[in-house]
Amino acid sequence: MKHVRKKLSVIGAGFVGSTCAHWAAAKELADVVLLDINEGAAKGKALDLFEASPVEGFDSMVKGTSDYKDIAGSDVVIITAGLPRKPGMSRDDLLATNAKIVKAACEGIKQYAPNSVVIIVSNPLDAMAFVAQKVLGFPKNRVLGMAGVLDSARFRAFIAEATGISIKDIDAFVLGGHGDSMVPMPRHCSVGGVPLTEMLPKEKIDQLVERTRKGGAEIVELLKTGSAYYAPSASAVQMAEAILKNQHRILPCAANLDGQYGIKDLFIGVLCELGGNGLERVIEVKLNDEEKAGLENSKKHVQELVDALNKLDY
Ligand code: NAI
Ligand code: 2OP
Repeated sequence: MKHVRKKLSVIGAGFVGSTCAHWAAAKELADVVLLDINEGAAKGKALDLFEASPVEGFDSMVKGTSDYKDIAGSDVVIITAGLPRKPGMSRDDLLATNAKIVKAACEGIKQYAPNSVVIIVSNPLDAMAFVAQKVLGFPKNRVLGMAGVLDSARFRAFIAEATGISIKDIDAFVLGGHGDSMVPMPRHCSVGGVPLTEMLPKEKIDQLVERTRKGGAEIVELLKTGSAYYAPSASAVQMAEAILKNQHRILPCAANLDGQYGIKDLFIGVLCELGGNGLERVIEVKLNDEEKAGLENSKKHVQELVDALNKLDY
């Protein structure tokens, strides 16, 4: 009997893309296609991962390619193609180069996987999601950006370390754009259901918030040759899993807003319900004045990026 599995394609077989393929195949979420302009890298990494399947005991097929025909019928596509930043670079320095790369990826997706839900990872994230939406022309529920799950995971990891409590009992989320203007939400964090503000002094929480904002740069400074990939790929795959399994999870993701928080036609990180249709709905939380100002500042930064993007010929 031929089994029909879900299909996940990952565009870009670099550090983030190949690690996405790894997590997704190991969890048997779907058959996985790994696509890169560097055909050898895509095919070599996919074959290597497939050869790990007998050892790890996963039944997902993994195929490497440079041909967009192979992504046909994908349920979810994750775009990781693009340059990562080096020390001293901001995510925004990648704007012009990555806009061209993301555009090329989206043209391939539009042609061969027109019914897929697309998750953008390439940076600068909120602007690349805007490029994707424009090129794909898909409805808003099928274009999402990954950043909030990662930024929230960093915040949760730092809280677990500071409190000594299991990561399983830490709930926290971060809103806003993926950059220094992101808005961690300590008022909404809990440790085993107890508000974080009752578990740690304000000065300590402020330190964790600052470390979260600079979490990406901390890794870049250590690695020197590129940026983070284990936590980013795990985060993108968590979003893909929620969609592939129709889980209706609430995850912070970049979504193209439609008036929520007074923001329209911009991608920004908000709490999203993810299910089989991709974005099922945006969940708007009540913000206090400080949080409102943080989100407004983040929106300004994303708008500046989109304005810069609109002046480029990509
Ligand atoms: P990498 O350099 O390891 O991989 C990028 C891959 O893209 C390379 O294999 C390259 O051959 C491929 N590529 C370039 N142009 C292409 C095209 N036109 N079509 C198909 N593939 C193409 O970089 P890494 O570390 O995997 O990062 C990928 C992107 O993800 C970067 O832009 C990085 O800034 C971003 N990123 C975003 C995060 C987020 O939270 N949103 C977190 C981590 C990384
Ligand atoms: C990160 O936050 C570079 O955006 C990437 O690690």
